[in-house]
Amino acid sequence: MKTYRIGVIGLGQRIAHVLAAMQEVGWRLRIAGQVDPAPVGAPILAAAGIAEGPRFETPRALLAAGPYDLVMVGTPNHLHFEHIGLALDAGFPMFAEKPIVRTQAESLALASRLAMGGAPPLFIGLVMRSMPIVREVIARVESGALGEIVSIDATEHLPAEHGGYLARNWRRKAAWGGSYLLDKVCHDFDIFSRIVGARPAKVASFGGRRIFTAERAETAPKRWDNGEAAYALGDAGWQGANDAFQSDMDVTDHQTAMIEYENQVRLSFHANSHVGLTERRWYVAGTEGTLIADLVRNRLMVRRALSRAKPERIDYGDRTEDAHNGADQAMARDLLASLEDGAAFPVTPFESLEAGLTVMAIDEAMQSGEVIDCRPMWACYDAAMKG
Ligand SMILES: NC(=O)c1ccc[n+]([C@@H]2O[C@H](COP(=O)([O-])OP(=O)(O)OC[C@H]3O[C@@H](n4cnc5c(N)ncnc54)[C@H](O)[C@@H]3O)[C@@H](O)[C@H]2O)c1
Repeated sequence: MKTYRIGVIGLGQRIAHVLAAMQEVGWRLRIAGQVDPAPVGAPILAAAGIAEGPRFETPRALLAAGPYDLVMVGTPNHLHFEHIGLALDAGFPMFAEKPIVRTQAESLALASRLAMGGAPPLFIGLVMRSMPIVREVIARVESGALGEIVSIDATEHLPAEHGGYLARNWRRKAAWGGSYLLDKVCHDFDIFSRIVGARPAKVASFGGRRIFTAERAETAPKRWDNGEAAYALGDAGWQGANDAFQSDMDVTDHQTAMIEYENQVRLSFHANSHVGLTERRWYVAGTEGTLIADLVRNRLMVRRALSRAKPERIDYGDRTEDAHNGADQAMARDLLASLEDGAAFPVTPFESLEAGLTVMAIDEAMQSGEVIDCRPMWACYDAAMKG
């Protein structure tokens, strides 16, 4: 294997973790150039023994100094559209973090550009697609073992420190992150569309901010029951705020959503960023069988509706502190297989755009208080792809 020349735009925690996972699974790599005014991922890279590489002032300067075998985009979400566009112009294969872009207008513009063809390979970091448990969920649904999918119930509930980090980090502002759901659970909505096999037809959503508010700044407990300080997890990074409760946050800290898909599958979703019992769980009910994927404990449970036997349980183990449970390493292998052997990457840029648009429609429904008919949005998207 050659040593991969990597160019990085946005050397934050995420890209540093992905690079470390790539090295761990056997990539030979070298950061041949990077652009970042203050690389938040530097300590993670140092711990992995990867040199930061030469710094460039701008993405244009970095790209002009190519060629690169892979350009990695890990900037905050509002910069993805610009940075992906520049790297597409330069023509190097690219790995860009999710959400692929932040707004509907950016989604349509990028769809139009990609549909014209001729773009270099673009891999999006919807990392859950690479997880063995998620692959099994998709395989079970596709095998017909559950019959027709009827309805789905899903959650993502984060531990208090994670929520406190989101309230202090750039993700707290819609202008940078997009929204709580767009940044955090575009992964899940990507998989839901995949297993439902259709696009959302109607969405509704309710959500708001009731945890990390200035009103609770004085009264909310700030210590764990063992006396340790709470909400102190690490440096909040680029544009970080000091106080999770007084941070000018304008995205939600809890949200619910309902979707009716074009093929009559119905889904409900519940997310909360400050819980005592963490959960990321998909309950998929088909006409003939039921499946529960517990993504926190990395366990799958399946049983036919008319079975009196014990449920089948698969424990994938591999649990890690970052709650990614080996997904980064699995994605790093998928990326290498695509670049070395031309193997299909588990998710396409178009699926990534559709996942983003789904969440954007959910947020629009929450803001308007109305049920949103998604058909006009998909019509615009399809028209954009036809140029
Ligand atoms: N796939 C996943 O599971 C996953 C997990 C975490 C983050 N992410 C995504 O990765 C991306 C980065 O998130 P993160 O957690 O690493 O954030 P981060 O704050 O740790 O890193 C962002 C980096 O971008 C840099 N930056 C800011 N403006 C820049 C500019 N104009 N040019 C170059 N660099 C600039 C910052 O200095 C920082 O180092 C986001 O899109 C996020 O949604 C994905």
